[in-house]
Amino acid sequence: MYNLEILLTEEKLQAKVGELARQINQDYAGKELLVVGILRGAFVFMADLVRKLDVSVIIDFVAVSSYGDETASSGVVRILKDLDETITGRHVLLVEDIIDTGLTLKYLYKNLKARRPASLKVCTLLDKPDRRKVDLVPDYNGFIIPDYFVVGYGLDCGQRFRNLRGIYVIHQKSAEETEETQEEDVKGEASHG
Ligand code: IMP
Ligand code: MG
Repeated sequence: MYNLEILLTEEKLQAKVGELARQINQDYAGKELLVVGILRGAFVFMADLVRKLDVSVIIDFVAVSSYGDETASSGVVRILKDLDETITGRHVLLVEDIIDTGLTLKYLYKNLKARRPASLKVCTLLDKPDRRKVDLVPDYNGFIIPDYFVVGYGLDCGQRFRNLRGIYVIHQKSAEETEETQEEDVKGEASHG
């Protein structure tokens, strides 16, 4: 059982996405931008972001998996779905939901850079610099957050909660808490159909 505590409201997120889009529109004025989302977490953020861009936009996605357990990135990254687009000579913006250790993005950045794009920049909604293992500073960043595990707005815990409109800190309930609220949880679940 989990407790969800609101960290960033829908309003705050939308305002920030607007700010990021304004900056990107300025920086890429007159250019065509290939926006590359990292699946699956970036899909909500990217959908909101591209709809606020008024430069010419093409979108693509990559899916990666890092070896190691679910919560600690190992740095060994495998590309599960590569780009469909060729990026040589094009302006590429990599869009990520959250940078944690930075290992995933560092690997992807090097991999894409080797294909010689005209430019390659990184845009992340969230950044947890406390946990960084490699040096990596995003070109565009929404919010710097402490070392919390967060869900919602595309981010998951065990593939759940991606559909929440805000971003929440997820706390595991203690055994006693779980027992106390079990009845309510069952009721809650039932009412959600
Ligand atoms: P990194 O290689 O450690 O930077 O891993 C980044 C990836 O880990 C993100 O793209 C997320 O998929 C996942 N991740 C890291 N922190 C969180 C979190 O707080 N909530 C949900 N996913 C996270
Ligand atoms: Mg991710």
